Amino acid sequence: MISGETTAGAQWWRSAVIYQIYPRSFADANGDGVGDLAGVTARLPALEALGVDAIWLSPFYVSPQKDAGYDVADYCDVDPLFGTLDDFDALRAAAHARGIRVIVDLVPNHSSDRHPWFQDALRAAPGGPERARYMFRDGRGPGGDLPPNNWQSLFGGPAWTRTFDADGTPGQWYLHLFDTSQPDFDWASEDVRAEFRRILRFWLDRGVDGFRVDVAHGLVKAEGLPDYTPDPHAGSMGGDEYGVPYWAQPGVHDIFRDWRSLLEEYDGDRALCAEAWLPSVEMTSLWVRPDEMSQAFNFAYLETPWDAGRLRAVIDESLRAYGAVGAPSTWVLSNHDVVRHTARLALTAENPQGHGIGPDSPGRPIPELGLRRARAATTVMLALPGSAYLYQGEELGLPEVVDLPAAARQDPTWARSYGERYGRDGCRVPLPWEADAPSYGFGATHAPPWLPQPEGWEPFARDSQERDPDSTLHLYRRLLGARRGARLGAGTLEWLSLGEDSVAFRNGKVTIVANLGRANVPLPAGRVIVASAPLSGAELPPDAAVWIAAE
Ligand code: GLC
Repeated sequence: MISGETTAGAQWWRSAVIYQIYPRSFADANGDGVGDLAGVTARLPALEALGVDAIWLSPFYVSPQKDAGYDVADYCDVDPLFGTLDDFDALRAAAHARGIRVIVDLVPNHSSDRHPWFQDALRAAPGGPERARYMFRDGRGPGGDLPPNNWQSLFGGPAWTRTFDADGTPGQWYLHLFDTSQPDFDWASEDVRAEFRRILRFWLDRGVDGFRVDVAHGLVKAEGLPDYTPDPHAGSMGGDEYGVPYWAQPGVHDIFRDWRSLLEEYDGDRALCAEAWLPSVEMTSLWVRPDEMSQAFNFAYLETPWDAGRLRAVIDESLRAYGAVGAPSTWVLSNHDVVRHTARLALTAENPQGHGIGPDSPGRPIPELGLRRARAATTVMLALPGSAYLYQGEELGLPEVVDLPAAARQDPTWARSYGERYGRDGCRVPLPWEADAPSYGFGATHAPPWLPQPEGWEPFARDSQERDPDSTLHLYRRLLGARRGARLGAGTLEWLSLGEDSVAFRNGKVTIVANLGRANVPLPAGRVIVASAPLSGAELPPDAAVWIAAE
């Protein structure tokens, strides 16, 4: 049961392992081909057995699903695709009964264009209070025919769309950093601020333990909306550059402080986690303070290639930067926006975030190498002090689906970039649960899943993995069990030097060694607690990692 005394009591999130559920791809209880909340509830025993502390649910709110639910039309209700509010309450209660906390997604940068406020704004005259809740502007040039500035949508194409007045003449433009169906709110509007306080309370009153805040760094745009041309090699979430007029503006701090003080009114240490793709750990850490966000995703860590020196550097930098603001670092290797780390760590060509990999991508990974590195990378990550995020399916060693048919692709990135970027569908394919069932047990019926699952996924199905003691599932369970037993999440890191190509450290009584080079690494003495791959005698082979109980 979740109560103040269990799960380390105060500030549970500092050391928690939080498992991301992407509801549409997790488990489909009603058999319509799309996962749902009842499916999550039914499969909670698997997550309890895995040993996670919390789940984070990607959006399940009322939405036309133009961006898989990150386009919200009603923030305080469940989309019929996923169930009902009663289903949510049942899920929350069942998770808490198993000692698993529940975090939900908050999407404050933009709504859906089907949100009643945006529909009102379209009908309203320019300059009125309805339009002030969004970023409506007059166009530039003769007749206002040019967009207000040169910003590009992160999914491709212009970030402005022109509206039509009631009489059919072209009117003002509205800003959408993402899809045209995702108009950006104007956070200068007191209506918007008040509405999000209401939304936070709505879910806090329903017993959620915190929020993952979508595009948290984007809420405030620079005064005057100056032109900005991004680096064409930047990832879709745009985290590679400094001085972007729509990211990390100082006004965002006030919003976070407001939310933090609202959360403090509630018991049980409710958490706020920022999704903020920023160029450095240093910059991201500035939003994580005792009176702002509890934590932020460590995307710098996620984006670190399989290179010992760079991995050591990003770990050091993370512990230093977050330590300086009194926050725990977080660690993450996969989520619904990136190429799964079973593939990403073995790519042989540049692949910026959001571009995805598809049939014609250069540098396609060798699956066996990718899986081997992914298992080693997770073995390192789960030994680090702080909080770790897992993405559904990684505990099965699930590969990125590279060969999705073009017609099946649904990420707006694919259409908006005219097929230039494959986008994020490859990591969103519904999970396999049973090797021999239709849709590998994802759905209760024969309905085809919303994204096709590839042939040959039997070995990744949870029941196959259960049967194989060397499976990735058993590796994750052993890691999570030992992490909890040794309280590694609340520990401290002390570097060891075992050569240029290894990452080696101690956390309490556990010694961790990873080999990112080509030659075996001799291991220090001690009992092996868990290893990502078989050892060669007393040596650690390449692309493997091990936990050893220090003697
Ligand atoms: C976040 C989400 C991503 C979504 C985008 C727009 O980055 O993680 O999936 O497309 O925001 O809401």
